[in-house]
Amino acid sequence: MAIGGVGAGGGAGSVEGQQGRSVLVTGGAGFIGTHTVLRLLEKGYAVTAVDNFHNSVPEALDRVRHIVGPALSARLQFIFGDLTIKDDLEKVFAAKRYDAVIHFAGLKAVAESVAHPEMYNRNNIVGTVNLYDVMKKHGCNKLVFSSSATVYGQPEKVPCVEDSPLKALNPYGRTKLYLEEMLRDYQHANPEWRTILLRYFNPIGAHQSGDIGEDPKGVPNNLLPYIQQVAVGRRPELNVYGHDYRTRDGTAVRDYIHVVDLADGHIAALEKLFATPDIGCVAYNLGTGRGTTVLEMVSAFEKAYGKKIPVKMCPRRPGDSEQVYASTAKAEQELGWRAKYGIEEMCRDQWNWARKNPYGYCGDAAENKD
Ligand code: UD1
Repeated sequence: MAIGGVGAGGGAGSVEGQQGRSVLVTGGAGFIGTHTVLRLLEKGYAVTAVDNFHNSVPEALDRVRHIVGPALSARLQFIFGDLTIKDDLEKVFAAKRYDAVIHFAGLKAVAESVAHPEMYNRNNIVGTVNLYDVMKKHGCNKLVFSSSATVYGQPEKVPCVEDSPLKALNPYGRTKLYLEEMLRDYQHANPEWRTILLRYFNPIGAHQSGDIGEDPKGVPNNLLPYIQQVAVGRRPELNVYGHDYRTRDGTAVRDYIHVVDLADGHIAALEKLFATPDIGCVAYNLGTGRGTTVLEMVSAFEKAYGKKIPVKMCPRRPGDSEQVYASTAKAEQELGWRAKYGIEEMCRDQWNWARKNPYGYCGDAAENKD
């Protein structure tokens, strides 16, 4: 483990922190992690990002530093570390005192989780158990945890409300569901803890600069990264999985949310934790409350892109739900947060990122062969 690397520093800098607050962000170099780190810095927090670059690259945090400029990036420290190695975490916590942790680090590819469930348990469950133990040892008891709409399984009723029945349909989903329950149990046993579980719907888009965005390694599993690779000529066409659903156009409905809105949802959750000593352990949906079909998304992307995306109608993808979208009432009422951006802005920013970075952060077709 190395302390330093990207953006080492974390000194006082000239900007006063959010009441001097310091936040540890695990998985800080990832898609949602980088956008959240950026917003935290803009809000005046001191941020330590930890990452093992399993599905991310150091360049992503360099881009964040570039976007926020030298004064704010002086408040960003990076530590290379793997949450499955407890000693890495001990070193992270020995370096500094953290007021709260936002925990993104984890694996999220459903098919990979079916093929390698042990890898998902080790990374997601063991990593979180280690994080909890080390936080507790160092007296840090405020946690925002990345959960997922995957915990609603195939919802019987939409919109999904936070107290809907929960069900995991694959090993990845089981790790998220188990971790939610584990963190709830831990909080009940340790009432001084404050924990927020954020259930993300479908994060897409990119920062308006087009300098940071999603850069999956290998063939993308998710819809927008795949469409974007078709747009830049890396893939010939989009496979549309399922066109016989009982929806407006036969394709499946999801609740897409701009990643910058999602990042702001984390700031709202953090502020809620700081302001609410007796919050306990609470789950919130982070979505827009609006459902969009696959074909509607393709057509919104085509508007931003200015050309057609070739599509091929294919059978349903196993395990997919027909319709998933969020009830946003609880987050609106209790966190004072709601998504600002619609699918037009999401596609505009996704295409801007793709156009500027057709091969992602590495910028080289040869390095991105898969
Ligand atoms: C998926 C996972 C979910 C996980 C999330 C992480 C499944 C069943 N669900 O959500 O557990 O939390 O990713 O981001 O894998 N689609 C196509 N063609 C493609 C890709 C996707 O038609 O090439 C369709 C899918 O069938 C689906 C919709 O687009 O109807 C959205 O798919 P995706 O982006 O993978 O998200 P989810 O399936 O909602």
